[in-house]
Amino acid sequence: MTTSFTSMDVSTAEQWGIIGTETMKNQPRVAERVLMLLESLEDVVDGFAVDQLTHCLQTATRAEQAGADDQVVVASLCHDIGKAISVPNHPRIAAEILRPYVRAEVVDAILYHQDFQGRHYFHHFDMDPNLRDNYRDEPWFALAEQFADEWDQTSFDPDYPTESLAHFEPKVRAIFASPHSI
Ligand SMILES: [Fe+2]
Repeated sequence: MTTSFTSMDVSTAEQWGIIGTETMKNQPRVAERVLMLLESLEDVVDGFAVDQLTHCLQTATRAEQAGADDQVVVASLCHDIGKAISVPNHPRIAAEILRPYVRAEVVDAILYHQDFQGRHYFHHFDMDPNLRDNYRDEPWFALAEQFADEWDQTSFDPDYPTESLAHFEPKVRAIFASPHSI
């Protein structure tokens, strides 16, 4: 069903009801688009030993094997999805894609993941490798630390037995099936 208004200032409540229903009906599109963006990361290598799809899959594989819950596994899978669009602001893009679908601590762990990763390479750029210290009192600190140190910074290994995108598809579809907020 579609509506007929050509500008919002003449729209009616009934028409917005139709749009709301159609939007909810099309919610599976969100998971489809996320999977599409993840697939596109296969083309993003930028000098690393593995492409960014492999890196994301490997990060999620390590999270899953460590017993992380589904929100954390899917966030691990999507943590660099922003690189499909733009590298400098990629953590923010990923965090905002995830925000309506996962709990707040998971969003923050992804949003600030580069500051935690810095421990392992910022010294090469004359940057402070201890930026994570700014977040010591945050409830998500331990999660962000485990994510960066154990799963993310270690996942550039072409020989690691990395799970496929198909393996994670059911979890992606489940997490993005219903937003808890807008
Ligand atoms: Fe990463």
